[in-house]
Amino acid sequence: MLTIGVDIGGTKVAAGVVDHNGRILDRVKYPTPANDPRGLADVVAKAVEELRGRRHGDVVQAVGVGVAGFVDEDRATVQIAVNLGLRDDPLKERVQQRVGLPVVIENDANAAAWAEARFGAGRGSDHIVCVTLGTGIGGGLVIGGRLHRGRFGVAAEVGHYRVVPHGRRCACGNHGCWEQYASGRALVAAGQDLARTDPVAAERMLKLAGGVVEQIEGHIITQAAMDGDEGALTCFRTIGEWAGAGLADLAAILDPECFVLGGGVSDAGAILLEPVRDAFARNVSGRPGRRLAEIRLAELGGEAGIVGAGDLARH
Ligand code: BGC
Ligand code: NA
Ligand code: ZN
Repeated sequence: MLTIGVDIGGTKVAAGVVDHNGRILDRVKYPTPANDPRGLADVVAKAVEELRGRRHGDVVQAVGVGVAGFVDEDRATVQIAVNLGLRDDPLKERVQQRVGLPVVIENDANAAAWAEARFGAGRGSDHIVCVTLGTGIGGGLVIGGRLHRGRFGVAAEVGHYRVVPHGRRCACGNHGCWEQYASGRALVAAGQDLARTDPVAAERMLKLAGGVVEQIEGHIITQAAMDGDEGALTCFRTIGEWAGAGLADLAAILDPECFVLGGGVSDAGAILLEPVRDAFARNVSGRPGRRLAEIRLAELGGEAGIVGAGDLARH
């Protein structure tokens, strides 16, 4: 039996046909329509139909959708998705009506955590906290082989964990949320800010962006950092410091065996991991003496959401 996993993120809707080993057999990608719940369900349905039309029509038996927002305990409604502009959206029903297959809705980071726990960096560990650094920051907890959803479905919404009292404004309405400091969007803000205030220090990033500050995107900062550019590396250190300090706070509450870092920002690999590990070790409570959680990079990278959503549709 095959399923289709769909990952609805802030910028793209990515879908794939997933087998029981968590392998993706075929994939499609579309831009995310903003502030348009019906249009979003249409895009999800289009992705599903396209994949079924290719050759998987008869064998696909269910659809799992990971969405970047608060999903209720019935796994049917998106209560709020700050980066997608959704509120009280009956996403399950909308998609089910369009595709005529059983549909499961899950938070995107929960789906990624599930995939990493079963098929990726969390294999063999019993207490996993997965943190995705993308447009926002997502969290997923897999404890003893089970996804921990909380009473109302929204456990591990770590992106809206307030790390700075009265800090930067967040789309959720609060101030100082973690995702305003350590997400992909925060990385881009740091890069663009550097380019505006110190164009010489940001020369390499600006060059890759065709000289246009607004064109400095995450992949450009990652590219420049991989080329050894100091300006871009500084941006990663800033994000990494916030990310690592946040993980230290999460360890105080959750005491996991390992943290798995995913999302687009984790494409930078060691460039991200080093400052994160460093900040974690400096900020975690109970040192020396405490046993420290390991921090690993996601193995399924940007595809974890698809794999996890597809696999959850099977269970
Ligand atoms: C949303 C989460 C989501 C995360 C990553 C946050 O802003 O509240 O539901 O998992 O972004 O996409
Ligand atoms: Na979550
Ligand atoms: Zn927030």
